[in-house]
Amino acid sequence: MQQVTLPNVALIGFMGTGKSLLGRMLAQRWGWRFVDTDSLIEEQVGCSVAQIFERFGEEYFRRQETEVLRSLEHQRHLVIATGGGVPTRPENVRSLRRHAVIVLLTAEPEVILQRVQPVETRPKLSTAPDPLAEIRRLLRERETAYACADIRIDTSTLSPSEAVLRIEELVKAWKPTPPP
Ligand code: S3P
Repeated sequence: MQQVTLPNVALIGFMGTGKSLLGRMLAQRWGWRFVDTDSLIEEQVGCSVAQIFERFGEEYFRRQETEVLRSLEHQRHLVIATGGGVPTRPENVRSLRRHAVIVLLTAEPEVILQRVQPVETRPKLSTAPDPLAEIRRLLRERETAYACADIRIDTSTLSPSEAVLRIEELVKAWKPTPPP
């Protein structure tokens, strides 16, 4: 896929919206490299995201996230699946903007709940007495952060192959807004 205006594509959005699955499929389709910020952090720290939250706390995890994103800035032909909390730090958004078309994947809260099972492996949901209410609360809290996206796609009712084609179509057609 050569027609993209910026060198990379970043998928942002809440857990369970399809970032990793669709990112992998897109990268394979385009002959690009797939990277997942959670996996890069796990490699760097040497344990799972859940263990990082437990042992070192969320703030430490967020600093690793920012560092990993920085390390991707000068690479090209990457499809980047980002952790659900990435856009909550403005510096992460600025970093992605420098080199990637930002695609927001969304899904209905009930669909998200089904896709994130078992919630015990999800640090942001594992201790919530009502995971669906917590998903709704976090979605509201992150609404403004997720609005940074160039493109938005609801994956609730799309099959993975339909979603991949839709992302491809919108990414190909996307042009940066010229400065006023
Ligand atoms: C998080 C989402 C997770 C992971 C961590 C925190 C969040 O990534 O980074 O558990 O704050 O929404 P995925 O969205 O890839 O599941």
